[in-house]
Amino acid sequence: MKVKKTNYISLKESRQIIKYNIQQMKHYEALKRRNVEPIEYTVKMKNPNNIIEIDNLKTCFFTDNGTVMSVNGVSFDIPKNSIVGVVGESGCGKSVTSLSIMQLVQSPQGQIIDGQIRFNTDEVSLDEKGNKLAYDITKMPTQHMYNIRGKDITMIFQEPMTSLNPVFTIGYQLDEVSFIHNPEIQKEEAKKHSIEMLNKVGISMPERVYSSYPHELSGGMRQRVMIAMALAGNPKLIIADEPTTALDVTIQAQILELLKDLQKKEGCSIMLITHDLGVIAEMADYVVVMYAGKVIEKGTAKEIFHNPMHPYTIGLQKSKPLITSNSNEPLYSIPGQVPSPINLPNNCYFKGRCTKCINKCNGEYPKEIKVSDTHYVSCYLYEESEE
Ligand SMILES: Nc1ncnc2c1ncn2[C@@H]1O[C@H](COP(=O)(O)OP(=O)(O)O)[C@@H](O)[C@H]1O
Ligand code: SF4
Ligand SMILES: [Mg+2]
Repeated sequence: MKVKKTNYISLKESRQIIKYNIQQMKHYEALKRRNVEPIEYTVKMKNPNNIIEIDNLKTCFFTDNGTVMSVNGVSFDIPKNSIVGVVGESGCGKSVTSLSIMQLVQSPQGQIIDGQIRFNTDEVSLDEKGNKLAYDITKMPTQHMYNIRGKDITMIFQEPMTSLNPVFTIGYQLDEVSFIHNPEIQKEEAKKHSIEMLNKVGISMPERVYSSYPHELSGGMRQRVMIAMALAGNPKLIIADEPTTALDVTIQAQILELLKDLQKKEGCSIMLITHDLGVIAEMADYVVVMYAGKVIEKGTAKEIFHNPMHPYTIGLQKSKPLITSNSNEPLYSIPGQVPSPINLPNNCYFKGRCTKCINKCNGEYPKEIKVSDTHYVSCYLYEESEE
């Protein structure tokens, strides 16, 4: 649709937007209802050592104000047995990316409109040329996704109180996870498994917690219970969306330590979403920096922390409080605002806030530049032909 230059929407435009939205939502919902054979969502993995490969993912919301491009061509990999940190300020599309992986984007207004999310599963093996096959979650029917969601891919949310049901005991809710994954399991066996899980996440009196209600536990304990639930089905990937933001600092450190420990023991991968670079530095093997629905830089934790290249990543690092800094100095903050996700400019989205702008930055959105096999940045400062 035509890009508007002002924020005012006339009645005529409003009608046009609504008409367009209904058309689009109908189109994407009809695609989901189709009877799809597994062959249609079976694709090749780029690298068999990755558990997830997100490739040019575009997820948008058809709202009354226009189309919100929440995730606008995001690509990154989650290698097996690793922690990938996704960082960026509020509203940059971190949660929508993770909800897209889980097929939990709020529909019908929220839709994945392009790209692939390749999930490396043992359900499909190799093609005739020996390439590892995978499922593309963006095309997978919801019915099939039920087998993967909560089992192979699980999620831990920011606020454990709202994720637990206040009227059932912890034990009841944990047992339920076992029953869903294995309907034949006996009650006693499910209880044993639940208590084992509570033990695993460092709860000292698991029997007591098993028969407690969520409100009887502290925030940190509740988050441990959520982690136990996420672990119950032996997941290959845990998505942790700001898992410690609602907890106080000492508990935060314990929960992060626990997650790191469990990741090593269980050999799964974690996609750790946070706006806190400090958390990423402690935990992640790989870092993905997002800005306004795009990945602007990605690399190993070492590359991003020792050699940040994008002016936004550099700004983020400068705005991190340091124990050694002079307390009289105000903390650095990146000036300006993120552009509106409805009317995104045609050039670099960071241009309005960037202090290193060059002539070329007036051109179209910068391409992704390969710095090393693992390090990529989208910024004109690093283009080859740059004088
Ligand atoms: N249900 C929704 N309807 C409309 N817009 C949404 C919805 N959910 C998220 N968005 C928009 O998508 C963008 C990305 O949001 P989100 O992924 O939640 O950001 P964050 O990086 O803070 O997790 C934001 O601009 C937000 O307003
Ligand atoms: S492309 Fe230009 S405006 Fe964008 S971050 Fe790089 S230097 Fe700044
Ligand atoms: Mg979020």
